[in-house]
Amino acid sequence: MIVVGGSSSRDLAKDLAALLGCTYVQAATTRFPDGECYTRIDSESLSDDVVIVQNTYPDTNLIEMFLLQDAVRKMGAKKMTLVIPYFGYARQDRVFKPGEPESAKVMAMHLSMNCDRVITVDIHKEAVLDHFNCPHKDLKAAAVIADYFKGRGIDLVLSPDIGAAGRAKDVGERMGVAYDHLNKTRLSGTDVKIAPASMDCKGKHILIVDDMISTGGTIITATQALKEAGAKSVAVVCTHGVFVNNALERLTGSALDAVLCCNTLENEVSHISVAGTIAEALKEKW
Ligand code: R5P
Repeated sequence: MIVVGGSSSRDLAKDLAALLGCTYVQAATTRFPDGECYTRIDSESLSDDVVIVQNTYPDTNLIEMFLLQDAVRKMGAKKMTLVIPYFGYARQDRVFKPGEPESAKVMAMHLSMNCDRVITVDIHKEAVLDHFNCPHKDLKAAAVIADYFKGRGIDLVLSPDIGAAGRAKDVGERMGVAYDHLNKTRLSGTDVKIAPASMDCKGKHILIVDDMISTGGTIITATQALKEAGAKSVAVVCTHGVFVNNALERLTGSALDAVLCCNTLENEVSHISVAGTIAEALKEKW
């Protein structure tokens, strides 16, 4: 097996290759003066099973993925697996208003036109997986998140809404601590109202678990509500730290006591690695 690291995921791809004990090849990706993507895989041949590790967010990375798929195929890959640590567009998984596209479906269909398997991690909506026209797996970060926080004094694991309650349950059960969810009402793209938590937060060390943090609005509001309800500390962990519009600075400057995420998107707080989880999935026969 050969692991090709796209420009979005070099550290994760290197870690993955090391865990699998296989060759790592780095795609040399640059931009033409007009912004178009140029990429080249500096290897004589790739006549083996090849794994490309590359995010499809932001759009520039999606284009790089398409180009890498073509290059890898031309270099003789036997079986091509796309590892998409953070799959973009998963939130537009259906037509909410007439005239909109089904963006997630468009992305999944186009990506699976030229590959043999796809691996995603905590995709925002699992229904999107049905649009990949090839074998696919969505891996869960709950185990590595629980391992990281075990023994760090957390009393309660919360999801920011009922829709993500399963994730809090998964993490909470693995850590052996209580879990619950908050009620969230989205007022606009950036404003979120969190109803007072129904459980007793007083004096508790709380961990909020979410699949992604984008603007940070959800978490900052949830943290304020929890602190007002008497929480002793509030930490947040997410799989995908998207952190748009200085979200990370706003989060670290808020009432939060800690901000952590997995390395599906590489940034200064992506200290929880999903490399082992991906490596295990790649070792399985499917
Ligand atoms: C929502 O369904 C997601 O799980 C996240 O809670 C949401 O996308 C976070 O967005 P933001 O950080 O912009 O509040």
